[in-house]
Amino acid sequence: MTEGIGGSRRLVLRGGTVVDATGERRVDVAIAGGRVVEVAPDIASPGPQRKASAGGASGDDAAVLDCSGCIVCPGLVDLHTHLREPGDEDAETVASGARAAALGGYTAVVAMPNTNPPLDTAEAVSRVLELGRDAACDVAVAGAITQGRAGERLAPMAEMAALGVRIFTDDGNGVQDAGVMRRALEYARDLGVVVAQHCEEAALARGGHMHEGGWSSRLGIPGVPAEAEELMVARDLALVRLTGARMHFLHLSTAGSVALVRAAREEGLPVTAEATPHHLVLTDARVVSFDPVFKVNPPLRSAADVAAVRRAVADGTIDAIATDHAPHAPQRKDVPFDEAAPGMTGLETALALAWTELVTPEKTPEKTQAGRLQAAVPAATILGALSWRPAQIAGLAPEHGGPIAEGAAANLCVFDPTEEWTVDAAVTASRSRNNPYAGMRLRGRVRHTVRRGEPVVIGGELLR
Ligand code: DOR
Repeated sequence: MTEGIGGSRRLVLRGGTVVDATGERRVDVAIAGGRVVEVAPDIASPGPQRKASAGGASGDDAAVLDCSGCIVCPGLVDLHTHLREPGDEDAETVASGARAAALGGYTAVVAMPNTNPPLDTAEAVSRVLELGRDAACDVAVAGAITQGRAGERLAPMAEMAALGVRIFTDDGNGVQDAGVMRRALEYARDLGVVVAQHCEEAALARGGHMHEGGWSSRLGIPGVPAEAEELMVARDLALVRLTGARMHFLHLSTAGSVALVRAAREEGLPVTAEATPHHLVLTDARVVSFDPVFKVNPPLRSAADVAAVRRAVADGTIDAIATDHAPHAPQRKDVPFDEAAPGMTGLETALALAWTELVTPEKTPEKTQAGRLQAAVPAATILGALSWRPAQIAGLAPEHGGPIAEGAAANLCVFDPTEEWTVDAAVTASRSRNNPYAGMRLRGRVRHTVRRGEPVVIGGELLR
């Protein structure tokens, strides 16, 4: 249907403002053969023009995507996506998750390995890479650190790295044994890959279903203390110091965790960190509804934690905003809070949430919960955290996240920063409906997504 648009014929993104790691400028962008071929203030289209649309290609010379009033940025890159295939295809598939990602402005996602069975062998990784080849966005794969994600014996990391795997994690579980983690870091260092840790000290977290604090006491729900996360961050920083290996911290959620990472950076340790949209927007007060849609791991934290994690995004301590998109079928969510699976969807709302809550904070719907109203975070910081920083961490740059310049890969997101919309959990490309933002009014919406020169979303609609 878009045949020819990304081929030899030109596609012109007209009227937008380009924002990338090099700055901001009012320019049009022309694309052909999957690459950016021209960046200039007013690109004239040769020959008769037409609007690119789901209606398909005609014999015209150039297609034009209207980007007026929009930001044109490198496609978003999600470091943390649960695609559930193989094993839980009723919740999500590689194809459905990639479609949700494209709607959210993503041109690449990193699929987490806690599938069923887990992605802990080269064969298992190959199958998901194969499924990703036809998907609506690029699909990279994170391999498991340990066999079966059981935390005991290392998985064949070198074989997976040979397939291009750049991130290893047992996400869903933290690697509890410091000796195993030390060996994983040593292998990773020698392979030139990154270990990503789900920071949770299991003994301290055991039996908890929400953040331990005032709300857990009031609601009578056993809590997980912030220290369960912070102890593991502190331990792993010691292991990074010991091994010299790079480490990435997944979904950090507490004031103490970001303080530890900030100090580690000042010390010069090679660590990066991510936070999720939900830990930047929602607090543990939401659990008052007992609605399992608000159950997630790590749990929604206190208003003071949310404020600290926001500050860490603003000052760059948190490198990336990663969704931890964790779709679940109704039988795992429509059950009592303490029996429900943790996790929430996030691919289709991440950019709009970050925009609404961080870039335009006067719009913050939860400002009374999330703490004192804070100064706006620069748009480029937020787009960097959603695109070029995660692309670098995942080893996907510059094909993803790279500056928009002649010769660059045309993986792009076009975003209208003023469009207001209301989240409807039923309107989604995901197979799951566990969306905690249903009914929320957001400002900013993805208009077009271009992957490898081909539009996959036009006017907020998927083309495939
Ligand atoms: O809430 C979560 N859900 N946290 C995780 O670490 C795993 C994820 C999942 O796979 O459902």
